[in-house]
Amino acid sequence: MPEAPAGKYMVDSYLDWAAREGVPIHEGFGLDLHAVATRPWPRFGVDGAIVHVKGRGDAMTVFVLDLPPAGKTLPQKHIFEAAFTVLSGNGSALVERYTGERHQFEWGRASVFAPPLNTRYQLFNTSGQERARIAVSCNLPGVLNLFHNETFVFNNPGVFPEREGEQKHFAGEGEFIPVKPGKHMWETSFLPDASRFKLHDWGARGKGAAHIQLILADGVLHSHISEMPVGAYKKAHRHAPDVHIYIIAGEGYSLFWYEGDKDFLRIDWKPGWVLAPGDMQFHQHFNKGGEPVRYIAFTQGSVRYPMTAHMRRVYAKVDVDVKEGGNQIEYRDQDPRIHRMFVEELAKKGIAVWMDEFAGAEAISSAGLGGR
Ligand SMILES: [Fe+2]
Repeated sequence: MPEAPAGKYMVDSYLDWAAREGVPIHEGFGLDLHAVATRPWPRFGVDGAIVHVKGRGDAMTVFVLDLPPAGKTLPQKHIFEAAFTVLSGNGSALVERYTGERHQFEWGRASVFAPPLNTRYQLFNTSGQERARIAVSCNLPGVLNLFHNETFVFNNPGVFPEREGEQKHFAGEGEFIPVKPGKHMWETSFLPDASRFKLHDWGARGKGAAHIQLILADGVLHSHISEMPVGAYKKAHRHAPDVHIYIIAGEGYSLFWYEGDKDFLRIDWKPGWVLAPGDMQFHQHFNKGGEPVRYIAFTQGSVRYPMTAHMRRVYAKVDVDVKEGGNQIEYRDQDPRIHRMFVEELAKKGIAVWMDEFAGAEAISSAGLGGR
């Protein structure tokens, strides 16, 4: 059989673009973004890298930007959505509305922000001594594979004034939009400190769990912040791939397995790590340290704009028992090894387990791993 000509068969326009950008592309199941090597990225004018986690799907990718002391990025503008999470350092951002009006705000560790779609923005490291490292979650792969035209994506005159939001959205303020536990929204373009932002109880997802959905720049990117208290862990659940999870506070580990697996994969993490469960892969997060764990997650398909029937189902059933057609394993049905591992982990550090559901845990029936 003759080989198909290059660029004519099974093209991935995003991967072709990524290879041409000339920066390292890191792959793995979970990665420490503080540790990944970066290289000068001409597009941004600072060092950077691309990160492809194993559970990456078709829509999303991660960039790392590394700004030197007193450094700044080149101005950027693009027709894909991007959400920035500050891993380390301090700086400022300039966002220019379509009308030319400019917003400037100061960011630091655990700040989260999203310039409205196709607005021009620029990032500055305001420290003269420290570098600043920022993770960018964006839906470039989906957009570039849809249009496969870089000029359309990076030099597009389109404007989206309905997404710009009020001035206060660039000043660390926003609107709380109550829905129900697990779906309450905070609408803004800039969150000064996601590690301390007020969350709301969502006990159905786990002991002491707290949560908020973020609507950033009226976008289709989903984002939520979750917290696990000391001595506790969340319930296992599963959903589609492409949900990138960044640890922003605390230390812990996650277990991953597919239904029917005999064992699970364990990834230990701390702030700066990113991970993403695979397609319908069960995963469960554990706080193994002495302070609350917080993480922020991004994917495509927000609670406001789910985009797909799949995401609508995920939002409807993310905390519903697998035995009732949902995608969550209740504590009483989980493999007993899961709780034992947690008890042993905390015993090493002398941290008390706060999972009173498990008084008499040995009586839990052994159901094997996953969703039965
Ligand atoms: Fe999840």
